[in-house]
Amino acid sequence: MSTLKNELDNAIRKRRTFAIISHPDAGKTTLTEKLLLYGGAIHLAGSIKSRKTQRHAVSDWMEIEKQRGISVTSSVLQFEYAGYRINILDTPGHQDFSEDTYRTLMAVDSAVMVIDVAKGVEDQTKKLFKVCKQRGIPIFTFINKLDHYGKMPIDILDEIENVLGIRAYPMNWPIGTDGQYLGVFDRRNNKAALFAADTTHGQEARSADIYEAASPELVKRVGNTTWKALKEDLELLDEAGEEFDLEKVAAGELTPIYFGSAMTNFGVQDFLDGYIELAPPPAPRDSSIGIIEPNDEKFSAFIFKIQANMNPAHRDRLAFIRICSGKFERNMNVWHEKSGKIIKLAQPQQFLAQDRQIIDIAYPGDIVGLFDPGIFGIGDTICDEDKKFKFADFPVFPPEKFARVQAKDTMKRKQFVKGIEQLTQEGAIQLFQQAGAGTESYIVGTVGTLQFEVLEYRLKNEYHVDIVMNMQPYELARWMAAKDGSEITPASLKGADRGMFVYDLNGAPVLLVSNEWALGWITDNNPNLLLNHVPFDKREV
Ligand code: G4P
Repeated sequence: MSTLKNELDNAIRKRRTFAIISHPDAGKTTLTEKLLLYGGAIHLAGSIKSRKTQRHAVSDWMEIEKQRGISVTSSVLQFEYAGYRINILDTPGHQDFSEDTYRTLMAVDSAVMVIDVAKGVEDQTKKLFKVCKQRGIPIFTFINKLDHYGKMPIDILDEIENVLGIRAYPMNWPIGTDGQYLGVFDRRNNKAALFAADTTHGQEARSADIYEAASPELVKRVGNTTWKALKEDLELLDEAGEEFDLEKVAAGELTPIYFGSAMTNFGVQDFLDGYIELAPPPAPRDSSIGIIEPNDEKFSAFIFKIQANMNPAHRDRLAFIRICSGKFERNMNVWHEKSGKIIKLAQPQQFLAQDRQIIDIAYPGDIVGLFDPGIFGIGDTICDEDKKFKFADFPVFPPEKFARVQAKDTMKRKQFVKGIEQLTQEGAIQLFQQAGAGTESYIVGTVGTLQFEVLEYRLKNEYHVDIVMNMQPYELARWMAAKDGSEITPASLKGADRGMFVYDLNGAPVLLVSNEWALGWITDNNPNLLLNHVPFDKREV
């Protein structure tokens, strides 16, 4: 075997790339922070998000995020733990930013689902879970806030199985009674981890006291009644519960469940250790020339995110790539499939907690930020020029909110067009032009209304353009084609005035309507019409 192949195999085996998915407030930020704490990447928890005074995470780069106290854009955090390289792709939990989140999920090999023990499976979790399930990636579950009163562990398991339709295997089990758990029992290693009262409010990484199952010390410490109850629970799980099956985990059919509390640190290390052992290394990917194995010696990657203005002092635009195969080296030349150009990858960056650093080498599973000269788009493939191909397109989202947007000052039209086109390329918005209308205004489509605020903010701050925005009363977009292949025009479409007839950037006709009823009328009266939620050559999420 070649030495490069060996090097790749070793690097791949030691990599874990995942995202944390959850409903807002379930504790994703806190858990991320604690993983960094246990990974040694930070030394005191609270540096990511100082409670109350500074409600934002290291991932909150944009000013608007700080203002609103929510995380708008996904970020990447990397650290080493027990010889492994962990890449965590942060996903914003806010409903309005689902598109960015969904794309991030395209770049991971597994997902960690955080559930608040008191709230159970919530809406946003369901949506994100669905995407992970569609991708067939393994999902690990952390049931959080065990320091508080919540649902009974057994009920949470039922809820996960019934609501999400995935089988659940508790890797550990809470010891004690609701609201006063003493620790967790590790079912695979047959050991109990007990936690002393936390006087640091979870700021410091602590190790638990570990006891062998049924050791007299354990029974003495937890008390006879608690020990008996635990034993009964464990027996019941062994008899009536799921069997652990790593293949089912890998296929996304069974989720390993860890109980704990991110805030007080209990169960966090257990979770991290278990996750590293069981989560998959970087996986092969489908492409235009077949499956690309991560240990393929030829480099390849795809862009899953573009972020501008991360650091106002530098006014830069970064494209985040997920490396899929081969070895990444600074200053290497790669082929950019979309433009057909060879590009030199100078000044690649990686992110460790608060710092960016230039990197020289990276391997499959790693995320690297590249300076974007303005040619990269979401989903683009870059690869070795000796082995050219394209990864499968990202699924796209049907837009649901629409606004007419134009520059307040017509003299600034040039910057306006440049800004709006770049934001479209980043995938933040979708752009349409109304049939028959002039080019001074665009119709912008988004998945959520907050994107419009981001658009306004960014055009003002990055392109110095004030805009006028008028929300449109439409909620559905349908790409149109004729069954007989003829051209669909505002004149040929019966009832075109029941909505707005627009063209997308590729010139494909799209009808915006306000409800299903209007759509029904159009369908009934245009028997020759084919409709699609997204462009006909794209897949819908
Ligand atoms: P998110 O990223 O999923 O939105 O959640 P985040 O970590 O910000 O946590 C949301 C709230 O839940 C925070 O409280 C946080 O302190 C709390 N929390 C997280 N993990 C635990 C846990 O294990 N136990 C308990 N009891 N609470 C937890 P907050 O009041 O909104 O903010 P703060 O005052 O703590 O900053």
